Amino acid sequence: MRIKRILSGMRPSGKLHIGHYVGALENWVQLQNNYENFHLIADYHVLTTDLDSSQIHDNTIEMLIDWLSAGLDPNKSPMFRQSQIKEHTELNLIFGMLITVNRLERNPTLKDQIRDLHIDYVTFGHFGYPVLQAADILLYKGEFVPVGEDQVPHVEISREIARKFNNQYGEVFPEPEPLLTRFSRLPGLDGNAKMSKSLGNTILLSDDTETIKSKLKKAVTDPNKIRKGDPGNPDICLVFAYHKKFNSGQVDEIEAGCRSGALGCVDCKMNCSSKISELLEPIRSKRPYFENNLSEVQEILHEGEIKARLIAGETMKQVREKMKIG
Ligand code: TRP
Repeated sequence: MRIKRILSGMRPSGKLHIGHYVGALENWVQLQNNYENFHLIADYHVLTTDLDSSQIHDNTIEMLIDWLSAGLDPNKSPMFRQSQIKEHTELNLIFGMLITVNRLERNPTLKDQIRDLHIDYVTFGHFGYPVLQAADILLYKGEFVPVGEDQVPHVEISREIARKFNNQYGEVFPEPEPLLTRFSRLPGLDGNAKMSKSLGNTILLSDDTETIKSKLKKAVTDPNKIRKGDPGNPDICLVFAYHKKFNSGQVDEIEAGCRSGALGCVDCKMNCSSKISELLEPIRSKRPYFENNLSEVQEILHEGEIKARLIAGETMKQVREKMKIG
C-alpha cells in the first residue's frame, strides 16, 4: 500500500506553548513513522494579522528549534518556509478564482480573529487566509492535515477548493482530511478556551520548572472554591483540563478530591505543574543543543526547502497542464 502524505504547518510566532504541542506537534512526531510528512512554516500567513515583519525570521528559528527539540526528524519530515517556495503564491492566485467571497465570509476563524485581536478592518490578504492555506496543503497533495480543532474550517475550505479544481480542470488534488487528537484544544491559564500568545495565557515548551510553577499558581480555578474544604467543580477548571492531559493516571482521584473539597487548589496546582514539567523535560533538555548549533538548524531548513521545491514544482506543472496554461 502506498504511504499516505501529511502536510501540516504553523505560523512562526516564536517559542511554542503546550497548546501547540498537545494540539498538533505531539501528533506530528508520532505520525512521522507511519506517513510521509511535510511541515511548513507559514511565514507569509503572519502578515495577515501583523504587518510588522521584523520578527518573522527570529520567530521562525525559535519555532523550528521547538519542533526539533520535540522530536521532529528532518530526515522523515522535511521542514520549510512557505515564503521560499514560489509555487505557494502561484497556486494561491489560481485558487482565489475557485472560491466565492461569500464562502470566505462564513469562515469562523476569521470572525474569531477579528474579535480576539480587535481588528477594525480586514485586508484582502487576511480574507484570503484559507486560500493560501489550501495552496500550502494541496501543492504537496497532502491527504491528512494534523491540526488543532480551530483549523478544521480551513481544511474544509481546502477540500472544497480541491473538488472545484478537479471538477473544472481534471483530477490533480486529493481532498485533504483533518487529523485531530483527543486534546486538540487546551484552555489558557486565564480560563480562556484557547491558549494563545496574543492572549498572554500560555505555558511555553521551554519554560523551566520554576516558571511553570509560578504560572500555575496564578491560574484561574473554580471561583466558588475559595479555600481547601470548599467543594469545587472540576468541569469548569482549566487545571483539571491540564491534569486530564498531563496526569491521566490521577484524574479520578483528583476529580473526587476536588468535588468533595478534600483537595485544595494549591496542592492540585503544584501536582499539576510538576507533571507538566516532567513531560517537558526531554524537550527542554534538547533545546540548548540547537541554540548552540544554529548553522545546523539553518541547514535543516535549507534541505527541507530543496525537497519541498521539487514536489511543489511538479504539482504546478500538472496544474498548468490540466488548465492548458503556459
Ligand atoms: N493556519 C495554521 C495555523 O494558524 C497554519 C497553517 C498555514 C497551516 N498553512 C497550513 C496548517 C497548512 C496546516 C496546513 O496554525
